[in-house]
Amino acid sequence: MNVGDRHYRTIWLSDDGRSVEIIDQRWLPHDFRVEKVGTVAGIATAIRDMWVRGAPLIGVTAAYGVAMQMADDPSDAALDGVWEALHETRPTAINLRWALDEMRNFLRPLPSGRRAEAAYRRAGEIADEDVGLNRAIGVNGLEIIREIAARKKPGEPVNILTHCNAGWLATVDYGTATAPIYLATEAGIPVHVYVDETRPRNQGAQLTAWEMAGHGVPHTLIVDNAGGHLMQRGQVDMVIVGTDRTTADGDVCNKIGTYLKALAAADNDVPFYVALPSPTIDWTVGDGLAEIPIEQRSGDEVSLVWGKSANGEIAQVRISPETTPTANPAFDVTPARLVTGLITERGVAKASRDGLKAMFPGRG
Ligand code: MRU
Repeated sequence: MNVGDRHYRTIWLSDDGRSVEIIDQRWLPHDFRVEKVGTVAGIATAIRDMWVRGAPLIGVTAAYGVAMQMADDPSDAALDGVWEALHETRPTAINLRWALDEMRNFLRPLPSGRRAEAAYRRAGEIADEDVGLNRAIGVNGLEIIREIAARKKPGEPVNILTHCNAGWLATVDYGTATAPIYLATEAGIPVHVYVDETRPRNQGAQLTAWEMAGHGVPHTLIVDNAGGHLMQRGQVDMVIVGTDRTTADGDVCNKIGTYLKALAAADNDVPFYVALPSPTIDWTVGDGLAEIPIEQRSGDEVSLVWGKSANGEIAQVRISPETTPTANPAFDVTPARLVTGLITERGVAKASRDGLKAMFPGRG
């Protein structure tokens, strides 16, 4: 998507053909910084410390990390080692494991002398494929927005609530939850987005709001607890969120707080959609609550908040007593029964094993 008048993806190969450049998302919306990363250790840090984040982008970044390892040492042992090292950087997003498996399965049969070049090529393809998947999600989700718009008075916007950032910053381009929103805007359908701030790291306030502003999408930032109230008052027409891992039974794991939005949506008959590319489906898992590992992040994310002061300094401030204990589960699981539909690249699936099987025959 564009930043100013220049088109950016969130990750691209440097001119040296060996490093990648990434948008360092820790500084947004205050500062737009691009970092060059050229080592596996650098890739691991960028994922773990969330310079890049969002399930699809984590996967693509890891794929490039494998390529960097192959350029250094293309042995089988190094291939297994980089798989392990990158896999442990973030535990919940399944796209990480998907991309690492994809790279290892592709590279393993090749002679070691051909692995580095092939790895960079395959990582680039995975990045390109992500863009295609998200674009297709956008086309399928646009139809839902169009149907809701047709039931509204002319000119009245479709009010969409979203949580966290499942935007272009979370993918290579377009985003998942945002792809239908961007396509609706391009198609001239009036939309308005309620952006949940998404504590503790504020991906909504810092990233989604920045994306919406940058692309001229009317939006309103709300605190995480406001969604239910707005739904009770009929101010939300639909919810669209992304997901870090959706099970073969249709349970949806996403940023902490998603479940509460789904409960409020169900209580108020507001359709609750989840947008996802097929690499986000974990076909090996059925019961999301029992089987998905939930990342537990540092308590500092709860008690310290990043912001920009009046004198332009980007810094953290403490918002709780220094001695107060914290807990910081980063994701929760929304049971399939609360999900109206899964917007995939192939169409909108029912959030159930049968629904996903029908959409992706031969899987699951
Ligand atoms: O912790 P984050 O910022 O990586 O979490 C991101 C999300 O929860 C997104 O909603 C999810 O990865 C889908 S991104 C298309």
